[in-house]
Formats: sequence, structure tokens, C-alpha cells
Amino acid sequence: MTMKNKVAMITGAASGIGRAVAEQLAAQQCQLCLVDQNADALEALAETLGKQVKVITSTGDLSQADFVENVVAQVEQQFGRLDYALNNAGVTSPAQPLHELTLETWNSVLGVNLNSVFYGLKAQIPLMLKSGGGSVVNTSSMLGLVATQNRAAYVTSKHAVTGLSKAAALDYAQQNIRVNSVHPGYIETPLISHIDQQMLIQKHPIGRLGTPQEVAELICFLLSEQASFITGAQYVIDGGYTIQ
Ligand SMILES: NC(=O)c1ccc[n+]([C@@H]2O[C@H](COP(=O)([O-])OP(=O)(O)OC[C@H]3O[C@@H](n4cnc5c(N)ncnc54)[C@H](O)[C@@H]3O)[C@@H](O)[C@H]2O)c1
Repeated sequence: MTMKNKVAMITGAASGIGRAVAEQLAAQQCQLCLVDQNADALEALAETLGKQVKVITSTGDLSQADFVENVVAQVEQQFGRLDYALNNAGVTSPAQPLHELTLETWNSVLGVNLNSVFYGLKAQIPLMLKSGGGSVVNTSSMLGLVATQNRAAYVTSKHAVTGLSKAAALDYAQQNIRVNSVHPGYIETPLISHIDQQMLIQKHPIGRLGTPQEVAELICFLLSEQASFITGAQYVIDGGYTIQ
């Protein structure tokens, strides 16, 4: 797998899965645009990875369309191309039955988990078309394929990412842009550290949670040329969560 001098944009790059992908792409000599709202963590990561490859960062709220547009404009200005995109930033929704969800919560979960992916694709694809093609991975979830109780906003947002990824894959299949979604089970990241870990482990036949590095391996494969015939696919990486 060679990614030397390719350019990747990663959202939600300061932590968890996004961070692990940034580390693995940097190890492949891929240049990076790292995006997150957590400025301190983002800068610390950029400083480390900047010793290996060219890294630019952008701090802001990905649920705002103009912010995402500006990030991609910066990528074009700094690198002149975009080869890979990982639309990955996400938030959980509070555990409550659907009728108790406020409109504010609904809109904010959908704003990050779904709208930011749409804003990403909408801005990234024109630059990829100019660059001769590219590969996009959107981070959905096993909850983009099956539901769980009391998480209607999260489940809806992740199912929508599954559909959006397939729709985008179809629109650009003949223009050398591939779009796939990944569907992790519970992964050891800060996103889920507030939930009872033993309870989560029991949901996975494999008997443990996943690691960000395991998910990153899959994402880097899907981004790479090795996955050149794979588009519109939904890749489950969930320790067996959804086979039950
Ligand atoms: N951890 C899991 O168990 C799990 C399971 C399935 C899917 N996922 C999905 O994987 C993706 C990555 O999650 P993670 O587990 O690495 O979580 P994480 O909390 O470790 O990382 C998410 C990052 O996204 C950033 N972010 C959130 N909202 C943002 C916004 N509005 N603007 C800019 N940045 C924002 C956060 O600052 C954080 O750095 C998410 O889409 C999540 O839904 C996670």
C-alpha cells in the first residue's frame, strides 16, 4: 500500500477512530488535513505527525456548511488536490425514548452525524473530480444497520449515512470516485467511555470491544487503491454484534 504524496482530509481527527486513521495514513507518507473542534488535541496530533508528513489543521464546527466549505478550499490552496476523505466526526445522543427527545437534541445530533457528511461530500467531490478521482469513507455504525433502544436520533443519523454513502457512490461510480461506509461495533474511544463497559462487551460475540486501530486498518484499506473495485459497500467491523 503506497500513499506517498497523496492528500487526505479527516474529520473528527483529534480523537478515537479519526486519530488512528491519521496516524496510519501518516505512516504511509500521506499528507493530511485534520479537522476537529478540539483545538488543543488537534494541534498536539498535528505537531507529532508533522514530523513525518505535511499536515494542516482546521478547528471548527463541522455541522456548519460554510466551515466545511472553507476547509476544502484550504485543502485546494495548500495541496492543490484531494485523494482521500474520511467523514467521521460524530456525537452520541442522550439515552431517552423518542418522545422525550427535544428538537434541539434531534437537530444537533443530525447536524453533526448526518449533515456534516453531506457538507463534506458536497465540497470534497468537486475537488476530487478536478484531481482525477478519489476515495471517500463515511463513518456510520452498526447502528446504521440495526437499531438499539432509546437512541433514535443517533440510529436515524447513522442509517442516513449508510444511504447517503450508497447514493454518492452511484452518482460518481463512472468518475473514478469511490464512496463506502464503515459500521463499527462499540470501539474503545472517549465517545462511549461514559457507558458501562462490561454491558457493552456482552453485546459482542467476540468478547471484547474493538480498538480504534482495528477500525483504522479497514478505513485505510478502503481509501487505498487496493480497494479499487469496492464502492457503495457497507463494511461491518463489529466483533459479531450484528450477526445475532
Ligand atoms: N466509539 C464507538 O463505539 C463507535 C461505534 C460506531 C460508530 N462510531 C462512530 O465513529 C466516529 C468517530 O467516533 P469516535 O468513537 O472516534 O469518537 P471520539 O469522540 O473519540 O472522536 C470524535 C471526534 O469528533 C469531534 N467532533 C464531534 N463533533 C464535532 C463537530 N461538530 N465539529 C468538529 N468536530 C467534532 C470530537 O471533538 C472528537 O475529536 C463517529 O461518527 C461515531 O459515531 C463510534
